Amino acid sequence: MSSNTVWHAHKVCRVNREKLNDHKSCLLWFTGLSGSGKSTIAGLVEEKLHVLGKRTYLLDGDNVRKGMNRDLGFSDQDRIENIRRIGEMSRLFVDAGVITLSAFISPFRSERQSVRNLMSVGDFIEVFIDAPISTCEKRDPKGLYQRARDGLIKNFTGIDSPYEEPTNPEIHLVNDGIEPNETAEQVIAYLKEHDYI
Ligand code: PPS
Repeated sequence: MSSNTVWHAHKVCRVNREKLNDHKSCLLWFTGLSGSGKSTIAGLVEEKLHVLGKRTYLLDGDNVRKGMNRDLGFSDQDRIENIRRIGEMSRLFVDAGVITLSAFISPFRSERQSVRNLMSVGDFIEVFIDAPISTCEKRDPKGLYQRARDGLIKNFTGIDSPYEEPTNPEIHLVNDGIEPNETAEQVIAYLKEHDYI
């Protein structure tokens, strides 16, 4: 625990950075089962924003777990710590004036709410990538569902570890039989309608 520390407010702040970028920053928080399409859709949204000249950064589950969070596994406690660290990191990116896209299963409502509470009002946009587990399991792009069913992976989300669906996400995307590109366009439309871009 760090004690005896004082927050230092520097002269160059988020408002200055947003002015320089000529757009607002915010956090698009993609949540959904493994194989639901979070990374694919977040990646497409990032590409579209980039083409529009917006500064972005995409934080992605597998990638972050290879670096900053490589000490964490998939117990409830480790997932909670995973999301806590990512929430703090996302907050820094938003403060840097960047449109931040975070794509993590983030299975627990309370942890997603904690990230929302870290951010200023309107900065947190929850994007629920809603695909039935049967669809995710059929896709099984990494063969993980099969391994979980064979008992080779424990605590697999949707099988022997829970996923708590968002009750009131800002954006609810049903990713079952729709082109990912079309789904990504819905996120861009939301950002335009709500004056983020
Ligand atoms: S969490 O729950 O938010 O902490 O998970 P996250 O950091 O997003 O990591 C999910 C990716 O890790 C791989 N993987 C597992 N997922 C779920 N349960 C278990 N037990 C597990 N073991 C490994 C998997 O590739 C996840 O990536 P996605 O992109 O979601 O398929």
